[in-house]
Amino acid sequence: MSAPLLVVQNLSKNYDGLLAVDCVSINFQTMEVHAIIGPNGAGKTTLINLLSGDLLPSLGRITFKDRNLTDMPSFAISQLGIGRSYQKTNIFPDFTCWQNCWLGAQSRLSTSMRFFKSAKNYAKIHQQTEQALALCGLEKHTDNLASEISYGEQRQLEISMMLATEPELLLLDEPLGGMGTSETQKMIKLIKQLARDRTIILIEHDMDAVFALADTLTVMVNGKVLATGTPDEIRKSQDVQNAYLGTEEENK
Ligand SMILES: Nc1ncnc2c1ncn2[C@@H]1O[C@H](COP(=O)(O)OP(=O)(O)O)[C@@H](O)[C@H]1O
Ligand SMILES: [Mg+2]
Repeated sequence: MSAPLLVVQNLSKNYDGLLAVDCVSINFQTMEVHAIIGPNGAGKTTLINLLSGDLLPSLGRITFKDRNLTDMPSFAISQLGIGRSYQKTNIFPDFTCWQNCWLGAQSRLSTSMRFFKSAKNYAKIHQQTEQALALCGLEKHTDNLASEISYGEQRQLEISMMLATEPELLLLDEPLGGMGTSETQKMIKLIKQLARDRTIILIEHDMDAVFALADTLTVMVNGKVLATGTPDEIRKSQDVQNAYLGTEEENK
């Protein structure tokens, strides 16, 4: 097997004594959809925040294609090709879909505002914005305000803002959260399409979606990794059933 795209080693995040992420080590392989599952409070969002540079780790190391990301700020990580979406929708409601997406596209440029001077950059950003909106099926809403489109479309818009930065690794935090059945199906289809030529780390509660999308699963409980394996291995694991899948069934 080739070297992993992203290596997480002994990563920890301590909040005044609470270890939200507790000595986590995971290898993320190129081009896989790697889902992270676990009950509420397991540390999944905190882990994503560490990978995206939104939070600094207390201990440990993150390596992306042989580059040490551990203390890098989020804009530098985005510029290296790692994009993320948030558990709560993170768009500008009073801007059009085009403007939201355009902001995403220009954020990848290394020197802010320099693009105003370059017609070539401007054309590139225009093209990235157009492509990202089209990938998410939002062309028809180009000139609509983000506040005017449906909730499901707002979540797609958030994905398109991330795609406009042309990332090779996507960090998706509960992209299906709060969606209805048809919106969920649309989003699953979109994630499948994106996975054809990108690596995806997916946090998701919807187990049907997780098992439909993931090549690899990591189960987190209380900040720790309980197990990593193929969907089949995880489904069959007694530890996982005891700690997580079993309780989900009981809660239904
Ligand atoms: N900013 C924070 N300050 C203190 N504790 C936090 C903070 N963010 C998250 N936590 C705690 O860290 C733990 C993991 O949270 P989180 O990563 O959001 O879990 P998950 O996404 O798996 O539901 C929880 O116990 C949560 O209360
Ligand atoms: Mg979370």
